[in-house]
Amino acid sequence: MTEDITVFRITPLFATTILLFAVNSASGEESDSNSPNANNSTGEDLRQLVSMPEQTRQFMREDMLNHLSALNEIISLLASNNLDAAADVAETKMGRSTMGKHRGTGMGPGRYMPLEMRNIGWGMHDAATEFSQVAKKGDLTGAYNALQKVTASCVACHYSYRTR
Ligand code: HEC
Repeated sequence: MTEDITVFRITPLFATTILLFAVNSASGEESDSNSPNANNSTGEDLRQLVSMPEQTRQFMREDMLNHLSALNEIISLLASNNLDAAADVAETKMGRSTMGKHRGTGMGPGRYMPLEMRNIGWGMHDAATEFSQVAKKGDLTGAYNALQKVTASCVACHYSYRTR
């Protein structure tokens, strides 16, 4: 008798677990199909290869690490409600004012990028400047929305292109 009750209680829970599991994997598939370029089912890398000189790739890596740490700094400043400082970090490390800083060397990454890739890069700088402007106004929710446009650019480029 006790056993029957246990079975009766466990079964709906079990069914719910299966259902949740199914919903999770369905939404997982959906996010894959939103970014179809990165991998196919065999794990093969389908991103477009963009060849760049070693010096240019080195510039990119330095810039990228700076972007990553700027992003981290921005999130931590937002969490402590320091929107002014977050705005400054975004503009000085990722914003429009940082564009073309390697141009003088003749080895800047932009000239080696296909147009669409360059557009994503420009979009990232624009988004960072826009974030900066929104954050300067003290609008925290708006700032998070604007920051998501910055990270969307990181994702868009990384899912479509590789340099090696
Ligand atoms: C326009 C394209 C583009 C955008 C936008 C972009 N990246 Fe990258 N990123 C690259 C490429 C290309 C590489 C590989 C460079 C190489 O090693 O040749 C890279 C490499 C990196 C790396 C690895 C650096 C290393 O140590 O090798 C990090 C981390 C990174 N990106 C973070 C970011 C973040 C964070 C953002 C957004 C704020 C971002 N990227 C936006 C193209 C982009």
